[in-house]
Amino acid sequence: MDANHVAVIMDGNGRWAKKRLLPRVAGHRAGFHRMLALADHAFSRGVKCLTLFALSTENLLRPKEELDGLYRIFREYFPEQSLKLKQKGITLRVIGDLSLLPEDIRKMIAEATALTAGGDKGTLVLALAYGARQEIAEAANRTVRAGKEISEEEFSALLYTSDLPPLDLLIRTGGEFRLSNFLLYQAAYAELYFSEKFFPDFTEKDLDRALQEYSLRNRRFGRI
Ligand code: IPE
Ligand code: IPE
Ligand code: MG
Repeated sequence: MDANHVAVIMDGNGRWAKKRLLPRVAGHRAGFHRMLALADHAFSRGVKCLTLFALSTENLLRPKEELDGLYRIFREYFPEQSLKLKQKGITLRVIGDLSLLPEDIRKMIAEATALTAGGDKGTLVLALAYGARQEIAEAANRTVRAGKEISEEEFSALLYTSDLPPLDLLIRTGGEFRLSNFLLYQAAYAELYFSEKFFPDFTEKDLDRALQEYSLRNRRFGRI
């Protein structure tokens, strides 16, 4: 069985840089430059939607120097990469609490999203300033404001991922075994895959290994 929706927690950029005696930001840059190649490869393997976790709400508590470095990369990355995405027919989506990001980056995201809309090669979803607990709390607050009880399906429709296929495979790079507040609701029945590789070292071959392992898993969804 093929995975329609694959998500990757892009972890280990800092340690990748440290190993090379480089500043952490060099690891983030190297990580960002893997994104398009991995997306391309995923879509060529039949994946319809690739979600990459690049910045959590908790990451926003990192020192200013690190965040400034990350924002600098976004500023370089968005205009340049969105043209490439457009050429390749890849639709870009961004999920998260974008109000937590600097104004100019929000604008770039809006432009990149508009530019790439309707691409039919696949959907690349970037999770930025994303936190699953915040996403769930916000959905709960919306139901409270609406003043009525809702079903599980209606609740799912209030999440950022409402228009995306169900999550099939969740990969975490960087050798940690935790979800770190990523897609907690959506991952209920996702297959989990952990790689020791730091994200900048995670290659197309590594993605193939994960997809291959996924294809051998037996998903029972609680049945027998
Ligand atoms: C993941 O790499 C990218 C972000 C969270 C922005 P890290 O920055 O967490 O790298 P490590 O885990 O410190 O190596
Ligand atoms: C998870 O990595 C978030 C992203 C990769 C964007 P972290 O480095 O923030 O996770 P922890 O702190 O090790 O749990
Ligand atoms: Mg980390």
